[in-house]
Amino acid sequence: MSLKQSYTLIAPLYDIFVAAATRGLRKRSLAVLPADAPRDVLLLGVGTGLDLPHLPPQHRYVGLDLTAAMLKQARPRAAALDCALLRGDAQHLPFRAASFDSVILHLILTVVPEPTFCIAEVARVLRPGGQVLILDKFLRPGEGGWKRWLNPVTRRTATRLDVVFEEVMESAGDLQVTSNEPLLAGGWFRQIQLEKPTS
Ligand SMILES: C[S@@+](CC[C@H](N)C(=O)[O-])C[C@H]1O[C@@H](n2cnc3c(N)ncnc32)[C@H](O)[C@@H]1O
Repeated sequence: MSLKQSYTLIAPLYDIFVAAATRGLRKRSLAVLPADAPRDVLLLGVGTGLDLPHLPPQHRYVGLDLTAAMLKQARPRAAALDCALLRGDAQHLPFRAASFDSVILHLILTVVPEPTFCIAEVARVLRPGGQVLILDKFLRPGEGGWKRWLNPVTRRTATRLDVVFEEVMESAGDLQVTSNEPLLAGGWFRQIQLEKPTS
């Protein structure tokens, strides 16, 4: 089964299992989005749009996802914002360089097969001075255990469990980590912010 097939099956049930558990984490991560002049904001792997109700209304949003069934669930939430939804691959973005002021990566960097491709694309499409907001689960360098054992099954159906953030950052170009905080499950889940320097 491919990830697209799997998320097509998951789509109608996703919110039931994920919405309540992640609401507080999303609000906290998205609270740092500037609430001043309108900006261009990209949500990669937007899914059913659980982030959308927490976004400031003045920005222009693009939500990209591989799975049509997930985007269908997101549509009513997107209608309340200036938000275009489109199908695409977060590892190969259909945007020009320096197109966005902010990129939101909530539960997507560890879902795509190649997170290094994804972060390299984020670095390309982000404008200088732009920010990246990450919410996800990462192993520490050298960490092993049950997550690596389960990974061959979960990576095809829902998510990778073996992604080390520091290894992903090796492909992040000039993006710099400005914040990296443990959230849940002994720091497995983290809230991370990156910035692209202005010069
Ligand atoms: C765990 S869900 C996260 C959804 C949302 N970001 C959230 O926080 O609830 C992962 C999402 O990534 C999407 N996805 C999987 N592979 C992708 C890819 N290569 N490019 C874009 N989206 C992808 C899935 O369809 C699914 O909607």
